[in-house]
Amino acid sequence: MRTTWTFSSAGQIIFGPGAVRQLADAARRLGIERVLFVTDQHLIEAGIFDEARSALGENFTIDVFAGGEPEPSLQAADECIAHAREFRPNGIVGLGGGSNMDLAKVTAAVMTNGGHPRDYFGEDKIPLPSLPLICIPTTAGTGSEVSASCVLTDRENAIKIGMMSNYMRPAVALVDPSLTLTCPRKVTADSGIDALTHAIEAYTAVDNATFPLPPGVLSLYQGRHPLGDCLAEKAISLIGANLVNVVENPSDRAAREAMALGAMLAGLAFSNVGVALVHALEYPIGGATHCSHGAGNGLLLPYVMRYNMPYRDREMAQIARLLGKDISGLSNGEGAELAIRTIETLNLQIGIPTRLRELGTNYDQIPEFAAKALGIARVVRVNPRVPQVAEMIELLQGAY
Ligand SMILES: NC(=O)c1ccc[n+]([C@@H]2O[C@H](COP(=O)([O-])OP(=O)(O)OC[C@H]3O[C@@H](n4cnc5c(N)ncnc54)[C@H](O)[C@@H]3O)[C@@H](O)[C@H]2O)c1
Ligand SMILES: [Zn+2]
Repeated sequence: MRTTWTFSSAGQIIFGPGAVRQLADAARRLGIERVLFVTDQHLIEAGIFDEARSALGENFTIDVFAGGEPEPSLQAADECIAHAREFRPNGIVGLGGGSNMDLAKVTAAVMTNGGHPRDYFGEDKIPLPSLPLICIPTTAGTGSEVSASCVLTDRENAIKIGMMSNYMRPAVALVDPSLTLTCPRKVTADSGIDALTHAIEAYTAVDNATFPLPPGVLSLYQGRHPLGDCLAEKAISLIGANLVNVVENPSDRAAREAMALGAMLAGLAFSNVGVALVHALEYPIGGATHCSHGAGNGLLLPYVMRYNMPYRDREMAQIARLLGKDISGLSNGEGAELAIRTIETLNLQIGIPTRLRELGTNYDQIPEFAAKALGIARVVRVNPRVPQVAEMIELLQGAY
């Protein structure tokens, strides 16, 4: 039984509209002189790279890797690392959604530790601190700006692979909600439901006191704890109150700010408590179909909640309340059902697919998805109900 818990974050959080203007100060405080930006063509076209570049001013030597891609592959990581080895930065700025921030994270880690990303797959395999890293999210979102994870796609084996280490938490999370104003509708919706999934998986995780960590195994995830709950609750209400609005009114600055805060709080919660079965199932499905991480998670979320409901009905009833529903007079089971239906409606409103077949999967792939998902022990053990392969096959068949 675990009786203690810890909480880790980015070294510093700078949050608010216009925060990007503090980039030069943040870089100087970290002793950075040679800066590698890790970004992509869309952000260059949207003018966001120029904004960050000019915020840095003239006193730095700068280079740019603009080969970021959605759900980045191991090859993209190789290219970014090769670029960095040539330029030799002493600090990295990850500018973009989770995809570019994750590329920046793995590059910052490999620059000080040497070797190849494959050497660091799994948990706590990184021996030394990374290069100073500043992450500037442009989606709201993954929470990668504060999290300890980096997710890459292994195309050969058709699966997402993760690395987790507190050394991958950025030194500074520079969160400027105005940078999300140019997000296309689908990116706003998919990244927003990912953030809600982070908060819900953390809020309904197995308890810290009974976290099933085998002896000798290290994990950054620790199960539910009081600080994680505070953050997840606030994230669920912020995202619940603003996600539909921000998808329908992309230039609503107040809604963009609320979403950026909600996504970051969800990142702080899940990166300490854990994500669970939704993420475990999304890794093989996303690896095989190339759907966005958010779309895959949003689709799976109500199905997994229904599976977990007998173990977490009280928390799910609270989720209904946090999503703005009146639960007075309802039993926990009725409240939980209301939460699940609210999320199903939300998915429809923002255009998340509701059936696995819409992602282009074959029915015959389901047993393989179930087996691969249950192999991802670091997230499966966070789930409040211990999943069996046959149950996962049934769950995915129901979602097909
Ligand atoms: N490290 C973590 O903690 C963590 C957590 C969850 C997800 N992830 C990973 O993050 C990735 C998904 O990240 P995401 O949902 O933020 O999307 P993304 O980074 O994949 O971006 C999607 C697309 O939107 C574009 N885009 C992003 N911001 C924009 C803006 N402001 N204006 C115009 N275009 C913009 C990007 O260029 C890209 O083409 C996945 O690879 C997922 O596995 C990581
Ligand atoms: Zn996620």
